[in-house]
Amino acid sequence: MAKVIVHADKATAAQAVAATIRDLIVAKAQAKQTAVLGLATGSTPLPLYAELVRLHREAGLSFRNVVTFNLDEYEGLAGDHAQSYRYFMEQNLFRFIDIPRENTHVPAGISADAAVTCADYEAAIRSAGGIDLQVLGIGRTGHIGFNEPPSSLDSRTRRVHLDEVTRRDNSVFFGELSLVPHGALTMGVGTIMDCRQVELLAFGAGKADIIRKTLRTQPSAACPASWLQDHPRCTFHLDPEANARL
Ligand code: GLP
Repeated sequence: MAKVIVHADKATAAQAVAATIRDLIVAKAQAKQTAVLGLATGSTPLPLYAELVRLHREAGLSFRNVVTFNLDEYEGLAGDHAQSYRYFMEQNLFRFIDIPRENTHVPAGISADAAVTCADYEAAIRSAGGIDLQVLGIGRTGHIGFNEPPSSLDSRTRRVHLDEVTRRDNSVFFGELSLVPHGALTMGVGTIMDCRQVELLAFGAGKADIIRKTLRTQPSAACPASWLQDHPRCTFHLDPEANARL
């Protein structure tokens, strides 16, 4: 069963998750190993990334021995498109820390063959030794990454069709609904379940209903995040508003 921590606010939650990530990076560095992080986009992880940047600048946390894999990318967007998730990561985290750029992975939104790109992404995660810690947000459809309902427990990195609820929610970033891509490449539920540790963040009243559904209904493809109930090491970090209906 997933663990739930209700924090005073999102800043406190971000600090707690950043401290967990710091401890992992430091422990791996001491063991002369690489820390493999799974990263998420959206507005939710922004305070977490700001705190990681602060730890780098003010507490000397180095990301030289860190490898990252992002969950997903919009289909059809190049890495320099302002709404691409590669661009988001550069703007909000990578350019402020000392991570070697070749250590950062985001699925390619434009490629000759999406199926090959997805299979290569799975292979790259495997050859890095698997993901030690995956950061997650959650969409109002119950999606994690871009695993919209229905997404099975054994789904792997693949091309998906975005739910209209998700396109509308994300249209605020694009300025207009028609500009939001209809497809994406995303790690699968199975890829996420393979991560050794999962830290999910959800903030605000708008997430209260889906958090209830995620944790209080039988795990099923109808709410992909609900599969996390069966993850051996998964923590939900909520603010009081997101926890309101639990
Ligand atoms: C997008 C991302 C998800 C993210 C979700 C929630 O759809 N693909 O990874 O969890 O948005 O976004 P927000 O954090 O802005 O609510």
